[in-house]
Amino acid sequence: MEAMKKGTPPLVIGNWKMNPQSPSLAVRLGKELKKKLARTEGVDVVIAPPHVYLGSIDAVRNGSKTFSLGAQNVHHEKLGAHTGEVSLSMLKAFGVTHVILGHSERRAEGETDEEVNAKLVRAVKEGVTGVLCVGERKRDPGGHYLSFIENQIRKGLTNIGKGKLAHIVIAYEPIWAIGTGVNATPSDVHEMRLFIEKAVSDIYGRNDAQRVRILYGGSVNGKNVHELFAEGTIDGFLVGGASLHAEEFTQIVRATT
Ligand code: PGA
Repeated sequence: MEAMKKGTPPLVIGNWKMNPQSPSLAVRLGKELKKKLARTEGVDVVIAPPHVYLGSIDAVRNGSKTFSLGAQNVHHEKLGAHTGEVSLSMLKAFGVTHVILGHSERRAEGETDEEVNAKLVRAVKEGVTGVLCVGERKRDPGGHYLSFIENQIRKGLTNIGKGKLAHIVIAYEPIWAIGTGVNATPSDVHEMRLFIEKAVSDIYGRNDAQRVRILYGGSVNGKNVHELFAEGTIDGFLVGGASLHAEEFTQIVRATT
């Protein structure tokens, strides 16, 4: 069984998506997470709320290192007239250290590989870790989905130099597993981990590619996480639905320690 990346702790990211529906519920969830996660060690935890809650969740953290803050999107330009958009420096002002990019729900809204790449380049340039999401809609017996994923990786990492790889995370999120309750099997996850590692090694060489953490996302919960982590040989998880339940999210985080 492949060992985890040496020297880097696992990473678990909670993607709140467009939840919860009020600031008070967001603060309540943030407080619960801070309390429950207080004694977890040896794992990096990132909470990615909607932009509008970043300030209040940062205030809940109040300097605590229990979790880091992530964003679910950013604009690729540094500044300018971009109605409705948010810049990286605005996010950094709330202590955001990670940004999820190319999530399939954003790609479904029309985001292209080129846009995802421009955002990733912006993030790493400014010292923020970019979480590049890749994944197939469905699996075909001919294995074409593999070249689809390789292409997403190649395009996503265009113009990202070797020196920035410590700021790159790749999240394998098959669309058929997101929010469906049907997770990829641990052996699917293991295979995809090796496949993604090879795709990154083909671009940067094996040594440098080791710096990229590879996560799995798609219907991860407090029950399946143990098997997925042990047999999937993955560096952590990107969690959607279950990240809205402090107790279950804590179980997921603890399963990686
Ligand atoms: P899910 O979502 O855990 O609800 O399947 C994962 C994601 O979309 O990041």
